[in-house]
Amino acid sequence: MTINSRISGFKDLSVVEKRKKIAEMVGLTPEQISLLNLDAVPRDVLGRMIENVIGYFPSPYGIATNFRINGKDYLVPMVVEEASVVAAASHAAKIARKKGGFFATTTDPVMIGQIQVLDIDTPFFAAQKIIEHKQELLEKANSLDPVLVKFGGGAKDIEVRVVPSMAGDLVVVHLLVDCRDAMGANAVNTMVEGIAPKIEEITGGRVLLRIISNLADHRLVRARAVFDKEELGGEDVVDGILEAYAFADADPYRAATHNKGIMNGITSLVLATGNDTRAIEAGAHAYAAKNGYYGSLTTYEKNDDGDLVGTIELPMALGTVGGATRAHPTAQISLKILGVTSAVELAQVAASLGLAQNLAALRALATEGIQRGHMKLHARNIAASVGAKGDLIDKVARKMIEEGIIRTDRAEEILKELTKE
Ligand code: MEV
Repeated sequence: MTINSRISGFKDLSVVEKRKKIAEMVGLTPEQISLLNLDAVPRDVLGRMIENVIGYFPSPYGIATNFRINGKDYLVPMVVEEASVVAAASHAAKIARKKGGFFATTTDPVMIGQIQVLDIDTPFFAAQKIIEHKQELLEKANSLDPVLVKFGGGAKDIEVRVVPSMAGDLVVVHLLVDCRDAMGANAVNTMVEGIAPKIEEITGGRVLLRIISNLADHRLVRARAVFDKEELGGEDVVDGILEAYAFADADPYRAATHNKGIMNGITSLVLATGNDTRAIEAGAHAYAAKNGYYGSLTTYEKNDDGDLVGTIELPMALGTVGGATRAHPTAQISLKILGVTSAVELAQVAASLGLAQNLAALRALATEGIQRGHMKLHARNIAASVGAKGDLIDKVARKMIEEGIIRTDRAEEILKELTKE
């Protein structure tokens, strides 16, 4: 199904109208629509996901519009508690559309399983012996997950490193596993546990940890876009964004916040699809330090036309099958809204969203500052918190924004004045 993610006036529709619009566009059934309501997820589903469940914590579920990636339009579900994030992503995606949207690619979805081997006197010698047994080790690993192998995935390669540590020289084995559409933690952990005894036999060492690495640098996604200078607000804005990027590139204190903004987008999508937000965050931040210092996950340059060109590259261990993605009915709805058919396609959407989010933040920071956008929703929350209802929420909020005073005491006064009238 092809859709047009450029929906004019979407933000002005009511929640119900928005939901109806999206449902029509992607063909949600009434049952599927009802899964976007509160109380729709059966208790036993949640109870099977984690232990000691006593309830659940509803967060807002929004849709970022305007995304075009590799020539295809996407509606992007985002679960996030922060104001302005969804609007900012949609706005940046609209700017990118002018020059064709985002272009994204991925490596194969290869995860790393680590095996820590201790107590080896001749670690380099042992490392070579492991490599000599590669075929046998891969066969053993693959025998543990025939389904993954059937779908074209499975253990593909072995790398060995010698890592000096306070526990002596460690021989660290990396089992590289193509996880296809799964995030892969279960498959990889099963495999490394399964081949560990063989590693001990080959090396004469002692295996301790056998676990996936979240620095998934064999499972990378890349996205790029051209942001038209006029759409951005002119050459000064382009230059301002480049200077803002230079700050992130040079200073880890700024890079952390810069990358946090990227993850505002990515994590919201990861959550909406029932994927592991911590795995993605850990991978992203570790990858940001790959050059020996913590830097930006994005780059920006100016092209010959004076437009801004942006790129992003990071690990993206996402699944579209298995885990909570399969178990949580709302995660299934997210995949339906996205219309993605594979984990690599989902990764491409995530990277494009991250780049859009970053561009939007830099543009706001380099121009009017970030607070203006934030304050709109904040003012509405303050108005509601002092008892404004219906239309009065917007009226009180608007007045506070006009005055530049967004505080509960002022909200109370305005509400009193308006209700007196
Ligand atoms: C806020 O959630 C995210 C930003 O701080 C990101 C940034 O500074 O680039 C606005």
